[in-house]
Amino acid sequence: MGNQAPSLYHYSVETKGSVHVKMDTLTILLIGAVIVSAAFLFLKTRKNSSSTPQAQVYVLFGGPGSGKGTVAGRLVNEYNFHHISTGNMFRDNIKNQTELGKKVSELIQAGALVPDEITLAMVQDALVQALNNKKTAILLDGFPRTAQQTKALIDMIKNGSLKGVELKVIYMHVPSADMLLDRLTSRLTCSNPACQATYSIKTLTDEEKASMKCRACGGELKKRADDEVESIKKRIDTFTTTEKDITDIFDADKIVTYKLDATQSIPQVYDDFVAQVGLKK
Ligand code: AP5
Ligand code: MG
Repeated sequence: MGNQAPSLYHYSVETKGSVHVKMDTLTILLIGAVIVSAAFLFLKTRKNSSSTPQAQVYVLFGGPGSGKGTVAGRLVNEYNFHHISTGNMFRDNIKNQTELGKKVSELIQAGALVPDEITLAMVQDALVQALNNKKTAILLDGFPRTAQQTKALIDMIKNGSLKGVELKVIYMHVPSADMLLDRLTSRLTCSNPACQATYSIKTLTDEEKASMKCRACGGELKKRADDEVESIKKRIDTFTTTEKDITDIFDADKIVTYKLDATQSIPQVYDDFVAQVGLKK
């Protein structure tokens, strides 16, 4: 055969011997496209897996009146946290006269704890539902409150239905029982179940005292049924006797804990929370 002019559409790769691998432009383009698509898919999968938001559960831990509900209200508004408050859930059930509400009503009014098995089932459902609804920043307010609840929460996160969730504790520290008592005897709560904002009677204007309307939603401001001195004292006692057991369990399991000085003013406590936890908008 005589000299063949190199084809515009065929490339020959000559190896040591006389074997020729011939590829046409279409084949090269196809192989290129396959490589580029594979690379694109690989990068996309990596990007998705690294940007899949990991859910974080922040436990607001502190005595009655330490300001858990107050700080939670602002975090929900400003950082879109999902708020799970066991106290609010029980009160909703009491208001709606559900079976659960009927079971717990007297205990709550007296300032006693609801049995662990009831509380645990309710919290586990609420957390699983929040995760199913793709909530990634959750505030757990008023739970855990006993050693058994604490162990159960850690177990859910290590081995159970909340596996992989990151748990952090914000310890709202108020060492003075008198300060807690003073705050709770002055507290007014919005009776709108969707709001439940809290106020201190000491900081209401005369006009607000006359209208008793919530600034946020216009709901009626009321004293909580368990904000009577005897009930408050019992709640403070219960917290004082269980506090160390619970923090010891968090420490033993190396759960990240931020300790806030919650005796400071409300704005200062909030600013400390945001700074210590490192929240970014
Ligand atoms: P729950 O509703 O959780 O009540 P609590 O723990 O007694 O806590 P509080 O809601 O009274 O206090 P808080 O820390 O939210 O304070 P707040 O921000 O409102 O639980 C109620 C009941 O339900 C329990 O007693 C129990 O029966 C049952 N229950 C709930 N969880 C349970 C569980 N896990 N297991 C078993 N039973 C359970 O603030 C209080 C007042 O202080 C407000 O007036 C506020 O304006 C003011 N204030 C807040 N921060 C400051 C500040 N920094 N300076 C000055 N004033 C402040
Ligand atoms: Mg509260």
